[in-house]
Amino acid sequence: MFSSDTYQKRRAALRETMSSGAAVFLGHRDSPFNYAANCYPFRQDSSFLYFFGLNEPDWAAILDFDEGREYLFGNDTTMDDIIWMGEQPSVATKAASVGINESFPCATLPDILGKIRQSGRAIHFLPPYRGETKLELFKLLGIPPDEQKEKASESLIRAVVRLRSVKEAQEIAQIEQAIETTCQMHTCVMRRARAGITEQELTDAIENIARQNGGTISFPVILSINGQILHNHCHGNTLRNGRLLLTDAGAETAMGYAGDITRTIPVSGQFDERQRAVYEIVLQANRKVAEICRPEIPFLEVHLAAAHVIADGLIRMGLMKGTAEDAVAAGAHVLFFPHGTGHMMGLDVHDMENLGEQYTGYDDDIQRSRQFGLSNLRMGRRLKEGFVVTDEPGIYFIPALIDQWEGEKKLRDFIRYEALKSFRDFGGIRIEDDLLITKKGCRVLGKAIPKTVEEIEKTMRHD
Ligand code: GLY
Ligand code: MN
Repeated sequence: MFSSDTYQKRRAALRETMSSGAAVFLGHRDSPFNYAANCYPFRQDSSFLYFFGLNEPDWAAILDFDEGREYLFGNDTTMDDIIWMGEQPSVATKAASVGINESFPCATLPDILGKIRQSGRAIHFLPPYRGETKLELFKLLGIPPDEQKEKASESLIRAVVRLRSVKEAQEIAQIEQAIETTCQMHTCVMRRARAGITEQELTDAIENIARQNGGTISFPVILSINGQILHNHCHGNTLRNGRLLLTDAGAETAMGYAGDITRTIPVSGQFDERQRAVYEIVLQANRKVAEICRPEIPFLEVHLAAAHVIADGLIRMGLMKGTAEDAVAAGAHVLFFPHGTGHMMGLDVHDMENLGEQYTGYDDDIQRSRQFGLSNLRMGRRLKEGFVVTDEPGIYFIPALIDQWEGEKKLRDFIRYEALKSFRDFGGIRIEDDLLITKKGCRVLGKAIPKTVEEIEKTMRHD
């Protein structure tokens, strides 16, 4: 946990933006996976963590913006809890540790919130995404779960996004710690990958590294010789020479901060000519992003620059044709690069995605494009100093998508379908780093994980 001062300052900053009403924050409860006492590993809601720091189940809070009062709700341990889970500091002690001096048992929450509602004041809440929270909000506010997203408070969402987007120095230190562990995970894959080992063995090894470092994984590991499947969580294959292995994985610190890095390596330890050629294009796009990210640049522009490098490289390889400008304007690169260049990262690996992409990924100037290929970008907004974003371009050969486009005779002025025939079993390449936006540019976070062809081959040779 950070110092109590940190949480007090964050809540004070929120109060400064929120002019009236009160906000209710529901921390997470334990979530059973087969019966009530046998639960998934606990993960606190990230906004609750950000403002209240308490990383355990069954907390709730109200911030009364009109009266400047802060209420924390939690239950002191019973003898039963002590027998099964051990002694815990009192609710009042924990409240004090995050700078709150009014704490109450959970059972009093409906009453206190009810009184605020009865006075006709607005109750702000963030859009819930867990069933348990939706039911709790329904009980407290009478808003049916399927109306809660639309009735969530836009002013609270905007205020929270504004605060959480700009990382404090101590948050950056946490993210760097997550990335340090993430580095160890990727280096482990590079050292252990070889024909005959299974994806599952490597996945287990890197999940262990995340846990041994005190935290866990920040999202389910993507580790596959079928890197063309973007979020492939199946680890059922055995590695074989000739294939590429794509690993997109990250650690989360005990305080909840994420790392998210992708590396793609040749199972044999040496890129063949074709793999190397495609790899160099993705690497160039990844570097272009880090070269141009700076405050005020729209991330949409960054994405288009990455797409341009990819289209240009594929034209030079003879897989696309025309000019890169025209190809990107027509969206032809999307056949090979069907995702956005990055997303915000922090307490969530896709930071604040639950608050709505129109707030976290876009701003008042930059709205989601309706243009083909750009309409699914998670992030287009202008960058600011203190943002942490990912830089993750890729090139994939997805046979079903190629067949669909070819069948529709789509964008034939830009795609050399004939030349793609021999790439159907190529797989996919993605390279991902995490960038901190600085005053004038950006910094790649973490110590360098092998990334060039030479560095990867050297690491795989155990030199
Ligand atoms: N690392 C997974 C993703 O960014 O979607
Ligand atoms: Mn990512």
